[in-house]
Amino acid sequence: MVVDLTQSNIDPNNPIYQPLLADLQGNILTSHDCDYSAHIFIQFKPNRNAVRQWIANFAKTRITSAQRQGETGGQFPQKNTGASPGLFANFLLSYKGYEALGFKFQVGGNREFPSPAFKVGLANFRSILDDPPVEDWQPGFQTQIHGFILLADDDWSQLNNQAKILFEELEPIADIVNTEVGRVLRNSKGQAIEHFGFRDGVSQPLFFKEDLDRAKQQGIDKWDPSAPLELVLVKDPLGEGEYSFGSYCVYRKLEQDVSGFKAAEKALFQTLKLSKKEEERAGALVVGRFRDGTPITQFPTEQNVDPVPNNFNYDEDLRGVKCPFHAHIRKVNPRGDKNDRHQTIEEQRQHRIVRRAISYGELPNARHHSLSPQVRFNNQLAHLQNLTRYPGEDEKVGLLFLCFQSDLFNQFMFMQKNWSNNHHFVTYTTGFDALVGQGKPKTSRQKWHNQWGENEVTEFDFYHFVTMQGGEYFFAPSISFLKTIASNFRE
Ligand code: HEM
Repeated sequence: MVVDLTQSNIDPNNPIYQPLLADLQGNILTSHDCDYSAHIFIQFKPNRNAVRQWIANFAKTRITSAQRQGETGGQFPQKNTGASPGLFANFLLSYKGYEALGFKFQVGGNREFPSPAFKVGLANFRSILDDPPVEDWQPGFQTQIHGFILLADDDWSQLNNQAKILFEELEPIADIVNTEVGRVLRNSKGQAIEHFGFRDGVSQPLFFKEDLDRAKQQGIDKWDPSAPLELVLVKDPLGEGEYSFGSYCVYRKLEQDVSGFKAAEKALFQTLKLSKKEEERAGALVVGRFRDGTPITQFPTEQNVDPVPNNFNYDEDLRGVKCPFHAHIRKVNPRGDKNDRHQTIEEQRQHRIVRRAISYGELPNARHHSLSPQVRFNNQLAHLQNLTRYPGEDEKVGLLFLCFQSDLFNQFMFMQKNWSNNHHFVTYTTGFDALVGQGKPKTSRQKWHNQWGENEVTEFDFYHFVTMQGGEYFFAPSISFLKTIASNFRE
């Protein structure tokens, strides 16, 4: 039976979806939700057969399918593999990785990747995305990356053990060109946040019935988070059969200047002459939500409610007097904002991405690229145990931004370029997305409303507290393709 990718509200027990979920890597349709994560970037050594053999074995013993992830709410026991019970694993390839493995694609052929951006790679879109020059990227991202292995676990020492095993296994077949490690930061209530202190991972496209049923409890009449499978899945061009799907992944290391952000937040607070009681409003005007997640378009102060409200749009704030047009969440998800004269809500919804980011923090002892990958990795991982939302003086912190989609141009790239970096979205002279807008500042400054819901505005520049350190585009292939990569050459 052919899978209908226009469907949402998926019941994973429905036999139509089971073969798809069994062959799809986890972390795409729902987050792996583990507290610790290690990202290992590799360049294959010349012996292709050995590399393919290793990949097939890794797929058979460790990669977590969407089905098994669903069965156990994020993790599942691995039988007789030596892998820890809670280990989650992904394996992704860059286009150069496919080429290094000997795969050839014909333009227009049925074995071509439908996304041309994937073929070209992230570094070549530097000027389109207003990214820093590649020479300024972290050295590990300036090197050609073929594969990206993600290991995640709630147990730090298990992750450490699994990474050690992996490093040994990789030795004969690949060079480790870069490693990153991340940890879910939490506030005093145990809720996931990012380094500026705001709740993160709140608004996501939802595919499964269980997740949608939960969302329906707060209503979905103003914002419907449901998403069809086709928002993230594409047929794996090298997969066999009707059920092999994959997804494009954008990986970007984004450094956050926490002290710069907080100083600017304070300066904005003073410029707008906010009262002590309104202290949190300045930050909320930047993000579009207060630190506790409350949407500022709905409330002038924090509401401290759980689950965080997500059933809202900007219909009652068409002039941006409550939530500024340049606020991060208004830029990256306009929710059918009627100020957008170019696109309908249906068109806007096609630009959505699923975010699977995790916070990082590293000390100078992990930043020297002259260190061996193993030593650097050990230093990175050791520091994770002490990671807090308050960075130390010589610590660099940020977000390992990772998102999945079915079309790189139309989703992540559209969002970053046409919305976040575009001064004239959603209205003329809006200015940058105050959180992640990139590029040269224009003469127009962002306009900030002095009082919630009132007309009077003050101009103030708030941007560039997030800097891109490097990254790449990857594809998460079907598991069956990876399992058979050694036996079936299909070049
Ligand atoms: C260090 C960088 C970033 C930080 C600190 C950050 C922070 C946040 C926060 C606090 C939220 C609100 C909570 C939530 O819905 O999860 C959010 C939402 C979101 N962010 Fe970011 N973000 C970053 C980078 C990006 C980038 C690069 C993009 C894409 C270009 C992006 C796209 C989104 C989207 C789509 C949402 C959901 C908006 C909605 O549906 O209301 N973020 N982000």
